[in-house]
Amino acid sequence: MKQNGVILWLTGLSGAGKTTIAQRLENKFQEQAYLVELLDGDVIRQNLSQGLSFTKEDRDINVRRVGYVANLLSRNGIIVIVSLISPYRAVRDELRYSSKNFVEIYVNAPIEVCEARDVKGLYAKARNGQIKSFTGIDHPYEEPLNPHITCYTAKETIDESIAKIINWLEKANQLPELVIPINSRENLNFSSLRI
Ligand code: ADX
Repeated sequence: MKQNGVILWLTGLSGAGKTTIAQRLENKFQEQAYLVELLDGDVIRQNLSQGLSFTKEDRDINVRRVGYVANLLSRNGIIVIVSLISPYRAVRDELRYSSKNFVEIYVNAPIEVCEARDVKGLYAKARNGQIKSFTGIDHPYEEPLNPHITCYTAKETIDESIAKIINWLEKANQLPELVIPINSRENLNFSSLRI
C-alpha cells in the first residue's frame, strides 16, 4: 500500500486563481473519498500564522510553518493542497527538495490580469499606498524555474487546469491508495469498542 500522501503546493500571485483551483481540487478528491486537507493562505493567516506580517522574514516563517504541517499530514496518507503566494524561490525549493512527495504547481497569470481581476480590491489599495509590500507591486514574486506543473489561468479554463493536475498525478503515480471508504468510517461505532 502507498502510505505517503502528497503535497500539492500552489504558488502564484494574489488573484492568479490559487484558491479557486485548490477548492475545486479539494471537492474532486473528496467526491472520490480521498483523505484531503486544504491549507489556504488567507485562512492560515487567521489562525496558525495570525500576527505575521508580509515582510520577507514573516513570509518565510509562514511558508515554513505551512510546509511543516503539510508534511505531518501528507506522511499519513493525506492529499494536502497548499495555496500560498510563497513568493521566495529559496524557501519553496527548501521544502520541495526535502520532501519526496512535493509537487510544485505554478498558478501563472500575468500581473496585469491579476490586477484587472482584483477580486479582493487589494491591488487598488496597494497602488494608492494603503497597503505596503504587496506582492507584484512593491514586493517581489520569484517565479518557479522548474515547476512540476504550470496552470496558465489567463488562457486555460479552470476545468483544463484541474485536468492537467489530475493527469499529471495519475501519470506520476502520486495519488495515495484509498484507505477506508468514507461511508465505513462514518459508521465506526466507538461506544461498542471494549478493551
Ligand atoms: S505569503 O506571501 O506569506 O505566502 P499568503 O499566501 O499567506 O502570503 O497570504 C496572501 C494573502 O494575504 C493574499 O491573498 C491577500 O488576500 C492577503 N494580503 C494582505 N496583504 C498582502 C500583501 N502585502 N501582499 C500579499 N498579499 C497580501
